[in-house]
Order: sequence, then C-alpha cells, then structure tokens
Amino acid sequence: MRSRIAGTGSYLPDKVLTNRDLEAMVDTTDEWIVERTGIRERHVAAPTQSTSDLAMEACIRALAAAGRKPEDIDLIVVATTTPDMIFPSTACLLQKKLGVRHGAAFDVQAVCSGFVYALATADQFLRGGLFKRALVVGAEVFSRIIDWKDRGTCVLFGDGAGAVVLEASNAPGILSSHLHADGSYADILNTPGQVWGGRISGDPTLKMDGGAVFKLAVRVLEEAAQEAFAANGVTVDDLDWLVAHQANVRIIASTARKLGVPESKCVVTVDRHANTSAASIPLALDVAVRDGRILPGHLVLLEGVGGGFTWGSVLVRW
Ligand code: UT7
Repeated sequence: MRSRIAGTGSYLPDKVLTNRDLEAMVDTTDEWIVERTGIRERHVAAPTQSTSDLAMEACIRALAAAGRKPEDIDLIVVATTTPDMIFPSTACLLQKKLGVRHGAAFDVQAVCSGFVYALATADQFLRGGLFKRALVVGAEVFSRIIDWKDRGTCVLFGDGAGAVVLEASNAPGILSSHLHADGSYADILNTPGQVWGGRISGDPTLKMDGGAVFKLAVRVLEEAAQEAFAANGVTVDDLDWLVAHQANVRIIASTARKLGVPESKCVVTVDRHANTSAASIPLALDVAVRDGRILPGHLVLLEGVGGGFTWGSVLVRW
C-alpha cells in the first residue's frame, strides 16, 4: 500500500500588504525587498481569522479538487507554528469546523518544514493501513508573531494555508520521504517567548540571523534533493518540478543552480505571499497544479527547511 495526492487547495486572506505599504511602517524600500527576496506582497489574516479558519478554506478547495467530502477523511494532520490555542491542536479545531467526528487529528510542529514533515507522517500511516484518507495541511498566521518594527524580518513573512487530500493507493504517489533535524541551530531562527504563570515570558516575536539561515537553507536543500534522487535511482534530469519552501527567491535560485535544475522547473510563488512557513509548499504546489504546470506522470520534488533546524524532502510521482 502506498499513498497519492488526490487533490490540492490553498487560501490567502483578503488583506494584501504590499512592499509600498511596508515603506510607511519601517525603513525599507520596495526595491530592496524585491532585489533581496523576490517578495512583492504578503497577505494578512483578519483579526477574526485564526489558523484553523485559513486551513478550513484550503481544505474545502482540496476536498473539492479530490471529489471528496469531509466525512471521507479519517486523518487530519496540520503543520503549524501559529496554532489557534496552546491546546486543543489546530487539527482538532479544524476537524470540528469540517464537521468530522471520527479518525485522528493532530498537529506537527516543524516550522517551515512542517508540511513536508506532515506529509511524510500521513504517508506512513496510510502505507501502514491505519487510515485511508488524510487531509494534510500547512497553515499559518505568522503576522501575529512578527515584530512589525524590525525591518530585518517583518518584510519577509505572510499568512496563508495550503492543503492536500492524501489517499491510500496501490501505486505511488509518494515515492520517498526524508526528514532531518539538527537542534544545535535553534539559536539562528526562533520565537523564544512562552506562556508562564499566566503571562508571556520572553520575547514572543520571531528572531532570525538571516545570513546564517540563508547559507544553511541552500546547503541542506541541495543535500536533501541529492538524497532523494539517490534513494529513488533518478537524476536531476528526470525531475519535472522543484517545489521548495518559498522563503526567498534567491534561496530557491541558488539551490536550483547548485543542483543543475533550470529555473523554468522551479515553482516560485513567494512574490505573491512571502514566507508563509508551513503553508508555503502546499500553496506553491496548488498554484502549479491549478495552472496546469504539474501534470499526471510528472516527477515533483517537495523540499522544506526551517526553524529547529529542520529540513527534508518528499518525492512525488504525480
Ligand atoms: O524559512 C526560513 C526563514 N528565513 C529565511 O529564509 C531568511 C533567509 N535569509 C534571507 O532571506 C536574507 O538573509 C535576508 C533577506 C534576510 C537578508 O538579505 P541579505 O542579502 O543577507 O542582506 P543582509 O542581511 O546582508 O543585509 C544587508 C543590509 C544591512 O545593512 P548594512 O548592515 O549592510 O548597512 C541590513 O541592515 O540590508 C539591511 N536591511 C534592510 N534594508 C532595507 C535588512 N533588512 C532590510 C530591509 N530594508 N527590510
């Protein structure tokens, strides 16, 4: 038994914050942001919207694309770093909104690698026969953990959600998953605050050593791709699409250059939603599926990297 992606969906909140808008908030320019990151705009959730609301919208679209109903789902895995509450999990809150009352639901916390971790986890459950059909979601409201006075980070992130319906299948589908973590890099990207005695203790906004993150991201994304190719006996020439974490167009371009993947095979959506952490890969995937780039039979490499540090790949035969 294997698993295959039967449908994709994504959602971006209505409110758009452009680089020009940010010029009025911090000492930055549209030119700097576009040149250094490729980002042109990001979306910000309404005060009434939580991560599970964004996730819900993406799931409705993924279910429709797969021709399935919420009751067909027996596993919900949500990758998020910005959960609605400390508990219950965002997956349980999403399950309630979907009207599902059976199966399992839980969150995965691997920051920007979260979707790859969640997809690999759901794939293992479906392969093992424990569940038949999963919603795998990446959803974030990163705008709520950003220091909007810090130009070094506030221009980089946005809110959004992406989802896939993953079904048990006789044929792949998902060919391989490889997951990695190295907690010794916790200091270069984190949000150190915590709830303690009814108060927030420590800084609850995102802190990052951008240069160190950039270098590490390019190195591990290249290594993870080579690992996936070797494990499946394929070469870079067999690859149809690289869907890497959408943090910075220069990270994607540098990784592609090192691997020898032409830029025309890289899906890039970071310009329209900035870094949406766990949501970025399913957002980019959904765009490329819906605009007809990703077609049946294509070989697609999903690659994530993020805080932890965590990284990994999922290789998919579409
Ligand atoms: O999911 C993983 C999450 N994080 C990432 O993927 C981020 C990875 N890192 C990056 O994308 C890049 O390192 C950044 C976009 C954060 C920075 O780009 P860079 O080319 O590495 O620039 P830099 O950090 O070397 O900064 C260059 C200059 C600095 O000024 P000085 O010290 O040279 O005078 C910064 O203070 O740019 C300045 N700067 C800005 N200027 C205008 C930093 N942020 C801004 C800004 N607008 N928003």
